[in-house]
Amino acid sequence: MTVTAVTAVTAARRIANLRACMAELELDGMLISHLPNVRYLTGFSGSNGWLLLSANEQVFVTDGRYKRSAAEELDAGGGFEVIVAHDGVLQEVAQRAARTFGRASGGFESEYLTVADWERLREHDAPMEWVPTADLVGELRSVKDAHEIASIEKAASIAATALRETLALVVPGMTEADLASDLDHRMRKLGAERPAFETIVASGPRSALPHAGTSGRKIQEGELLLCDLGASWQGYCSDLTRTFVVGEPDERQSEVYRAVLEAHHAARDALQEGAETGSVDAAARELLESKKLGGEFPHSTGHGLGLEVHEPPRLRAGGVDALRANMVVTVEPGLYFAGWGGVRIEDDFLVTGGGPRRLVQLEKDRLQSVPL
Ligand code: GLY
Ligand code: MN
Ligand code: MN
Repeated sequence: MTVTAVTAVTAARRIANLRACMAELELDGMLISHLPNVRYLTGFSGSNGWLLLSANEQVFVTDGRYKRSAAEELDAGGGFEVIVAHDGVLQEVAQRAARTFGRASGGFESEYLTVADWERLREHDAPMEWVPTADLVGELRSVKDAHEIASIEKAASIAATALRETLALVVPGMTEADLASDLDHRMRKLGAERPAFETIVASGPRSALPHAGTSGRKIQEGELLLCDLGASWQGYCSDLTRTFVVGEPDERQSEVYRAVLEAHHAARDALQEGAETGSVDAAARELLESKKLGGEFPHSTGHGLGLEVHEPPRLRAGGVDALRANMVVTVEPGLYFAGWGGVRIEDDFLVTGGGPRRLVQLEKDRLQSVPL
């Protein structure tokens, strides 16, 4: 049985794009070590895989645990030479790099290779020159193809359904951790491979922590309840946040929710092909600043989403990169008040020539109540 998710045709297209970047940088070869990048280029989903590329060779190195899955996942038509290393993967990679690159220059992913692995690579006395490169593959990954968009949309649908179904079952005495584990369970039952990241459930004053660790605190009547979750589907992530009130909302809760929703809509409307990433952040931030609430919005407005939950492009203040059609990004403004609580509203969008397309089907137009 083959489980190939990256076909030979797709791998060839992606590798050709990377080779074009290599040529621009006058690199004769490239070592890809960041696993999401390896997965993007080869389809390999394991935890130890290295890809060496030259102008006409593509050598994949892994260890014995992945002998069979590498054979299944790397499309046999893709022209990969697969090496299963028995005496240390790094040693094999270094030796093959020396042979593949000769005296030439080989790029490595300086943002991802550890110092220890870098030193191991250089222990091997090769005539080649290693050249640090920025995240070339991350840049390529930021524009998605139809299969990737469909996978993110499916991951979003799983997370949205899990949230809707699980919240109907909140009962008195339930803790944040109980709810988080029910959400994770539900996502898996709906077909997710796993949660895309550690699910956040933060209630009452703990919702003021933008990245709260879920705790054993009991969910209580009258409090805000913030849930931030995502599913992984065929390796692709979703990432969505909704904030609820347990029981009936008070005036301040509703007012803060409305302000965050307005900021969310402002950022969404700024998600236009060609717009600078910083302008999307500015749209949300200026809206909140106009209400004298800018100081309570301590994080950036969003980020790219794909094989990783945080990837290029970043929608942060001052960002000058242009948004391109078929990028997938989150929009997630929030307001956080120490001791009181916080509200964040996060959806995932596809950038298109005709404006943003929302990939999450889940109500958010008012502060919804969770009955206890
Ligand atoms: N769940 C992580 C984030 O929203 O960025
Ligand atoms: Mn999130
Ligand atoms: Mn996010």
